[in-house]
Amino acid sequence: MAANGSNQKNRFIVFMLATAVVALALYLLLHFELELRAYLGARLTSHAVQDSLVRIPQLILWSVLAFLGVRALNGVTFDFVFRIRRGYEAPALVRNIFSMVAFTILFVLIFQHIYSEVNLGALFTTSAIFGVIIGLALQDTLGNFFAGISLHADRPFQVGDVIVVGQQKHTGVVESINWRAVKLRTFQNHIVLVSNSIAAKEAIEVAPRDNLNARLMYFSTIYTDSPAKTIHVVREAVRDADNVSEKIIPIVRIRNLGDSAIEWEIKYWLEDYAKYNDTDALVRQRTWYALRRNGLTFAFPTRTLHLERKVATRPTTAEDEIADRLSAVDVFAPLSTDELRQLAMATVGHVFAPGETLIRAGDEGSSMFVVHNGRVQVQLTESGKSRPVAVLSEGNFFGEMALFTGEPRTASVVALEETEVLEIGHAAMKHLFETNPSLVESISWTIAERRAGLAASAQQSAPDSISESAGLLTSIKHFFGLR
Ligand code: CMP
Repeated sequence: MAANGSNQKNRFIVFMLATAVVALALYLLLHFELELRAYLGARLTSHAVQDSLVRIPQLILWSVLAFLGVRALNGVTFDFVFRIRRGYEAPALVRNIFSMVAFTILFVLIFQHIYSEVNLGALFTTSAIFGVIIGLALQDTLGNFFAGISLHADRPFQVGDVIVVGQQKHTGVVESINWRAVKLRTFQNHIVLVSNSIAAKEAIEVAPRDNLNARLMYFSTIYTDSPAKTIHVVREAVRDADNVSEKIIPIVRIRNLGDSAIEWEIKYWLEDYAKYNDTDALVRQRTWYALRRNGLTFAFPTRTLHLERKVATRPTTAEDEIADRLSAVDVFAPLSTDELRQLAMATVGHVFAPGETLIRAGDEGSSMFVVHNGRVQVQLTESGKSRPVAVLSEGNFFGEMALFTGEPRTASVVALEETEVLEIGHAAMKHLFETNPSLVESISWTIAERRAGLAASAQQSAPDSISESAGLLTSIKHFFGLR
């Protein structure tokens, strides 16, 4: 901004200096015209040459002055009236047309003043050859010029829109439209200039900036995977990716039943279409993680018969390692080695990508999770904005509230980095509670503490943890059918 300001200042100083120099030269020329004519008369014999040597410099200096005047008028009109009064920039084409028309009128007036004996009108109307030459020379320029006017009048696209134009499919964000060309900035940060006449002739695909534009992404799964499950899993994974609009839920549908795969199409709508490369990549990443987590398999094109291998429920972790992890979880401290092993066998591992939602507030939930690797954030959502409540890392657990009370999930939990969690279901916990009554108590303490944390975060009055925990104990026992 500061560089821009000083640039403008420099331009203003140069402009004023140029105007002063030209005005001074013109003044001197007019003031000493008689002396100059006498001087030239004494040296040159041809009267025509003498006359030209006086009038041509006058014509040039007046024209330069007129040019500077038009620029000043252009600046005042468009910078001041449009940008400051109306709050938006005047199109470059309008500015150029204004300058050209104003300068032509001034030039004709100056010419008529200096060469009053020449009939310009007759010169133009009778000079057919002149017209043909000018017409041929300006063919392309005029074509672009009029195409530019029609682009401005039609407004098929505007600055900031993403367009695909021409047979070469030039794609980019429109930066400007002037009298000659449309300027695009491509996604490699290159500039492409498409002449107006081409833009007016060719088909243009426009993704307007203030429109929800959709993208399509394709993938394939093997025939043994359930379509209903694939639709649910992929839709949930894609819908909360950055820049995917929340206004329309993504569509996941079968595009084709191919030779060796079910071929899928995901359609999702973008908040900012100019960032579609990043969003497409994120959607592919989310799809990969979601398929893997849910035991769904990408298809590879083959006709070879291959034996279907059962997808391992836990590809990355061994039972001992899991038992080790569970032994470090504070509420499981009272469990014996055997019990930890049994619990380890009952867990299911899932991997989540950074930014993915593991638990959505308000959903039903019948399992809890232990963080095996990575970190997650517990969030409360208030009027569309999420507020962090806590960060949980390796050895912490979450999701116990809905599991033990049967109530909806109290908060959302989002992965802060690639995170592997161990899921423990209702049945496994019930078995543990029956053999370890003290476990119910320690879990009720954690729940009571977390409820207090949530209430404080939501700025409600925090319930008394001791009586809360006693109440919870009874309701958990009741929910699990324990005595
Ligand atoms: P649940 O309600 O099943 O789903 C959201 C989970 O976020 C919740 O269980 C808790 O495990 C966790 N949670 C809620 N509040 C807090 C808190 N204050 N500190 C840590 N974890 C919390």
